[in-house]
Amino acid sequence: MEIHQVGIIGCGQMGSGIAQVVAFHGYQAIVIEATEDLCQRGIRGIHQRLDKLEQKGSISGDQNAAIKNRLRASTDLSQLSACDLVIDAIIENREAKLHLWKSLDPILKRDAILASNTSSLSITEMMMATSRPARFLGLHFFNPVPVMTLVEIVRTIATSPEVIQTAADFVGRLGKTPVFTSDRAGFIVNRILIPYLLDSIRILENGTGTISDIDRAMKLGCSHPMGPFALADFIGLDTTAAIAEILFEEFREPRFAPPGLLKRLVTAGRLGRKSGKGFYDYSDPASPKPMDESGRI
Ligand code: 3HC
Repeated sequence: MEIHQVGIIGCGQMGSGIAQVVAFHGYQAIVIEATEDLCQRGIRGIHQRLDKLEQKGSISGDQNAAIKNRLRASTDLSQLSACDLVIDAIIENREAKLHLWKSLDPILKRDAILASNTSSLSITEMMMATSRPARFLGLHFFNPVPVMTLVEIVRTIATSPEVIQTAADFVGRLGKTPVFTSDRAGFIVNRILIPYLLDSIRILENGTGTISDIDRAMKLGCSHPMGPFALADFIGLDTTAAIAEILFEEFREPRFAPPGLLKRLVTAGRLGRKSGKGFYDYSDPASPKPMDESGRI
C-alpha cells in the first residue's frame, strides 16, 4: 500500500513535529486541532522552524515553500477522509483517545492505516474503539521529533503484517529508524527510561546527590545528552508522572510508582520547561537554576 496523504490529530509539541517531518519528506500533511487559534499556532511554530532551517542553509527557499505548501490545518475531522495514514498525537488521556478513535472510525477510508503516537496507553484498547483492528498500530515518535531518529512500531495481537511493513517503510522514508515492540505499557523506551527518571528523583530525595551533580554525573559518566532532571523537565513532569502511573497500573511494581516530590511538583503547576519551572527554573533560559540551590525541595 502507498502512503501519500497523512493526517495528524493534535498540533502540540509531538503533533507539530510529526507534521513537519512528514511534509518535509514529501507527503501531504493535514493537521487537526480543536480551534482555529490552535491550528494557527501549530502551523506558525512549524513555519518558524522551517525558516530557521532555511536561514542555516539546510534547505533552500524553494524547498521551504514546497514543504509549507504540503501542510494544512483544519478543525474538521472529516478533512481526514482521504488520508492513507492517520496518526493521533492528542493529549495522553485514555477517554479522549477512545472518543477520538470512535469518532474517526466512520470518517476514515476503509484501507487507511490508523496509528497512535501514545507513549504508554494501550494500543489494543484504542484499536477496539474502531471496526478495523488489523489496520491499527502504535507509531511512537520521540521529542524533538525533527531531531530524534527513533520510532517505535507497536504491534497488537491483531495488527496485520502488511500494515507493519507499510509503517516501517514509511518510517524509513522519514529518515528514521523503526524498532518493533509489542503492546505493553511504555513499550521499550519508556519502560526503561521512566524508572530511571523516577530513581533519579528518589536518590535526590534521599540526599545521595544534588540536581546539578546527578545531571552532571549522567551526562559525563554515561554520555547522555541531558541529565535525568533536565530530561524530565524537557518531557514535562506531568507527562512523566502520567506515564509512571500507567506503568504502575499495568505492572504493580514499586519502581514504577511516581515519587512524592514528582507528584507535588505537578500539583504545584511546576511542569518543567513548558511552565517555566520544574526541577530547574527557566526564568533565564540560557542558564536554568536547579530548585535545590534554594534548599527547599
Ligand atoms: N525542534 C526541532 N529541532 C530542534 C529542537 C526542537 N524542539 N531542539 C533542538 N533542535 C535542533 C537544533 O536546531 C540543532 O540543530 P542543528 O544541529 O542542525 O543546528 C540540534 O537540534 C541541536 O540543538 P541545540 O544545539 O540547540 O541543543 P543541544 O545540542 O543541547 O540538543 C537536544 C538539544 C536535541 C534536545 C538534546 O539535548 C537531546 O538529544 N536531548 C535528549 C532528548 C531526548 O532524550 N528525547 C527523548 C525524550 S523521551 C520521549 O520523547 C518519549 C515520550 O514518550 C516521553
